[in-house]
Amino acid sequence: MSASKKPRGKKSAPDKASSPAVAGASQPAGQGAWTGSSRAMFELMIKEVPESLQDVFRVKLMDVLGQKAKGGPYQESHVIEIVNEIVPEPFKSNIIKGFATMGGVDISVVEEIVASIPGGQESVPAVLHALRGRFGCVPEEALQVVSQKKNVFMSTLYRLVTSFQAFPTATPKKYAVSVCDGTGCHLKGSGSMLHKLQEKAAAPDGNITLEKVRCLGCCDLSPAVMVNGELYSGDDAQARISELLGE
Ligand code: FES
Repeated sequence: MSASKKPRGKKSAPDKASSPAVAGASQPAGQGAWTGSSRAMFELMIKEVPESLQDVFRVKLMDVLGQKAKGGPYQESHVIEIVNEIVPEPFKSNIIKGFATMGGVDISVVEEIVASIPGGQESVPAVLHALRGRFGCVPEEALQVVSQKKNVFMSTLYRLVTSFQAFPTATPKKYAVSVCDGTGCHLKGSGSMLHKLQEKAAAPDGNITLEKVRCLGCCDLSPAVMVNGELYSGDDAQARISELLGE
């Protein structure tokens, strides 16, 4: 995702609004540090904003977060307060629901691992191996951090982890299906696809490993799904899912 355009500050206080992704990894504990799942929750909140406005909202919401933190670490409660106080419906409900289904991955551990492996996109396979070694799989929350720190599209990362057995996100079945339920895709019917796929995946003979994701990086062609590492969008996505469902 793109870096912000905010001018650099002169003080030692963290330039939180300009680069929250970087702030989390390089700040000492305390001021400007992210605690618990606060970082993942903040990113989940930003994902609900239309992509073209995400940079602007990131800066604004980081300012609000900084005010709430009052110079201390960013906490999960601060993010929840922002959602409740600022975010309108239906986005608020979506975000709160997303918080409730978030995994228990410690983002600070993920950031440490990512920071310990220098380099850009070429370092991603090594990072994914390290994440797998630590967590036993490569959780989605971790992918979000990798995407930002290494400047790699989420769709590229999903393709990597669903294409190689070395990077399991869960026990593999015949079809690894990722359905984007970000705002753009949700408005184009991804919710209905998800619902049907969930029923199929839950069936005793279900041969689908289903994953709901926040964005596959092609919002203008929504809805977007990925099946065994192959990205489908628009009518193709609907057709591929109908095929899997036997419709
Ligand atoms: S919202 Fe971006 S691809 Fe679905």
